[in-house]
Amino acid sequence: MYIGPYQLSNNLIVAPMAGVTDRPFRTLCKYFGAGHAVSEMMTADKTLRMSKKSLYRANFDGELAPISAQIAGSDPEQLAEAARYQVANGAQIVDINMGCPAKKVCNKLAGSALLQDEDLVARILDAVVAAVDVPVTLKTRLGFLNGEENILRVAKRAEDAGIAALALHGRTREDMYLNTARYELIREVKKNIHIPLIANGDIDSPEKAKYVLDYTGADAVMIGRAAQGRPWIFREIAHYLETGEHLAAPEIVEVKQVLMGHLAELYQFYGEYSGCRIARKHIAWYTKGLRSSNEFRQNMYKVENTADQAKVVESYFDQLLDQGRRMSDVQVEQVNLLEIK
Ligand SMILES: Cc1cc2nc3c(=O)[nH]c(=O)nc-3n(C[C@H](O)[C@H](O)[C@H](O)COP(=O)(O)O)c2cc1C
Repeated sequence: MYIGPYQLSNNLIVAPMAGVTDRPFRTLCKYFGAGHAVSEMMTADKTLRMSKKSLYRANFDGELAPISAQIAGSDPEQLAEAARYQVANGAQIVDINMGCPAKKVCNKLAGSALLQDEDLVARILDAVVAAVDVPVTLKTRLGFLNGEENILRVAKRAEDAGIAALALHGRTREDMYLNTARYELIREVKKNIHIPLIANGDIDSPEKAKYVLDYTGADAVMIGRAAQGRPWIFREIAHYLETGEHLAAPEIVEVKQVLMGHLAELYQFYGEYSGCRIARKHIAWYTKGLRSSNEFRQNMYKVENTADQAKVVESYFDQLLDQGRRMSDVQVEQVNLLEIK
């Protein structure tokens, strides 16, 4: 699949997730075969651009191309300016967020709240596309309220505006993360537009990815929550799509190496204090459902420096290595990969 001039290496995309898909995690997902990744959302508000959080989010140093920066806001001119800023900062694709359901974002009429005002949506799309000479993509939901899904009109307007690809989460804002993603409407949209469509929502296994691709006719699938603590899911899905067969669960020794590498990247990226704290949630995701992992996590949360944190993680994985070879040997609880975190 292409986004503008960029041919993606496959049709598996890691979803933008604020607080999760920072540069270290995007890099890891791409290493495991994600064909594309989008940054965490960044506010279009210029006054917040130099905040620590924005600077981390806008850090694309050394990232594998194409680099996609997601912007969120509600003012067309402000978004246009933010798009220009991100391109100057290294973005090769600009993604507009019209999907975020969070109150803090929607109260400012940004994210999915924009879907209530189609005229404003159109002005934003036109302004951002005109502002930059790189592809602009859109990520959105089915609509704001159930029963008032307006995605068909929004998608057509996006196509007319010159949007290069549309990522569609099969829920409304009203759904938040409740109910299940509705792939029927994604399929309907695909039939009605000619730009690449990326289907998103509740994809947590190779079979589900194949089902969604086949059923909706989408050009690609986007995976969010199921990749947390499990970046190798892209390798598993790619293998299944190519061969129809499942890869064996990863070996414990590989996961240990991946996690230790991920921690080292987080420590380097965020520094000692934030690195230690941000790493906690990732460690928790990697170890969910594993033998004695509740006790391990309770202890791990108490550790307040990176050197000791790395040590406790390493020693926990060494214990697991004494008990089996593959992750499936030490997985003692079924994990719901779509739990909201
Ligand atoms: C923790 C978290 C943070 C998210 N942050 C963003 C974001 O910054 N931008 C965005 O467009 N969507 C964001 N999303 C939505 C996801 O990109 C995705 O649309 C949603 O999780 C559904 O996909 P999934 O079922 O594969 O998780 C976020 C989701 C989660 C769980």
